[in-house]
Amino acid sequence: MAALILFGGGGDLAMRMLLPSLYFLEHDGLLPDGLKIIGAARSEETAEDYVAKVHEAVKARAEQDQAWDDHSWTRMKARLDYLAVDATSADSLKPLKDKVGDGEVTSFLAVSPSLYGRIVTAMKAAGLAERNCRIVLEKPVGRDLKSFLEIDDAVAHAFREDQVFRIDHYLGKETVQNLTALRFGNTIFEPLWNNLTIDHVQITIGETVGVGDRWPYYDEYGALRDMLQNHMLQLLCLVAMEPPSDLDPESLRNEKVKVLRSLRPITYEEAERVTVRGQYVAGVSEGRPAKGYIEERGAPSDTETFVAIRADIDNWRWAGVPFFMRTGKRLPEKRTEIVIQFKPVPHSIFDDEEGEALANRMIIELQPEEDISLTVMNKRPGLDKRMQLQPITMSLSWGVDGKSAAPPRRRIAYERLLLDAMAGDSTLFVRRDEAEQAWKWVDEVAEAWAESGHKPDEYVAGTWGPDSADMLMIRTGRDWNTTD
Ligand code: BG6
Repeated sequence: MAALILFGGGGDLAMRMLLPSLYFLEHDGLLPDGLKIIGAARSEETAEDYVAKVHEAVKARAEQDQAWDDHSWTRMKARLDYLAVDATSADSLKPLKDKVGDGEVTSFLAVSPSLYGRIVTAMKAAGLAERNCRIVLEKPVGRDLKSFLEIDDAVAHAFREDQVFRIDHYLGKETVQNLTALRFGNTIFEPLWNNLTIDHVQITIGETVGVGDRWPYYDEYGALRDMLQNHMLQLLCLVAMEPPSDLDPESLRNEKVKVLRSLRPITYEEAERVTVRGQYVAGVSEGRPAKGYIEERGAPSDTETFVAIRADIDNWRWAGVPFFMRTGKRLPEKRTEIVIQFKPVPHSIFDDEEGEALANRMIIELQPEEDISLTVMNKRPGLDKRMQLQPITMSLSWGVDGKSAAPPRRRIAYERLLLDAMAGDSTLFVRRDEAEQAWKWVDEVAEAWAESGHKPDEYVAGTWGPDSADMLMIRTGRDWNTTD
């Protein structure tokens, strides 16, 4: 019998993402036969109570996607179980080991990263780190390079690297994988994918939500560690990496590590010029009054809820091409996009045209829609004496030509990643040296901020961050794709 153990099985991540993902996989007949799903958490509740909570969470999520059916739930329910444990104690984990027996076990740590080290040590002592066991670690692993290495050493003491799956759910998103298909499944883009043709790259992850009651976690991490160290740098790697020789997990991850190693360190002197920290103050978000971060937190705090950074990649392909990244809470839109801005034509034979600045641009949109589009200049139809141009946008989305198949249901990124982890495929997971390099680079930024004592710049909830984020671009003669 194979088993999936969800440590933190009653928590927010499990209820909002992991269990609904497992339901969808069940619905589509994709869960391994005989798989048991065991929630493990501190709360002294019965399996019946736990199953009732899961039912409520999963049903609400599945109904949004019109994918709820009682038969699928009945099958999933038969797999579910619960055990109250103290995961940091080997003795407390013994009954869990007895429950799963000697089959393959995948354990997902959906708990605070500060507990990872103690949990893996207890797991090893309880026999939950044997050769047929795997461990999935939710990000962020650690808070800086030092704590990452401490945790990872404890993990390495219990598990071999091929048993460890460091999750970054952005890698499970369909469009993120599509980026690899776009770059390496076509010949037309790759010859243009370099500093001869590309002016700059922008990566935006905008969220409308505030930090709310997640502040005890968030206040310690901030946007730099919560989003940039992982999701944003992973997106940057996939845009910037060299073609891997195949899709083997190691080939792909070798290329990503090379990009991380080529990131130009941000020195103390540089930080002022190429980084921006922001924190939202009260404003209006999605039509409703929104509190500032400090009011939510209930005390003063210097934690950033917004970060923007200019990164430079020191290698042949990208020399001179800045990568601008920004992410924040309480921005005007839930929007994730990668903008590849190609250079303007070297000499224009047309009159200055409105909209020219929008052309020669590829937008890879991950959220809210999944779409890849290309904006090019085109002749405005008509008999104008002088040829008039206008930008037009071509979409490479599913079904836009009216012939392609309807797009499949948009999956939760964790669906793919849970299946891969249980099957032992680490392609879409982060290797130790990747996380290490990412922390190294981010640590320098965090240290420069700490040394300078520079407080985050304020921005009003519901806007695209502080003015300094616009200035970061404007100083270089460029502009963000999406602005107020
Ligand atoms: C998580 C962060 O990793 O990603 C959250 O901890 C953030 O702060 C979330 O809200 C965003 O994920 P998505 O898939 O909604 O863009």
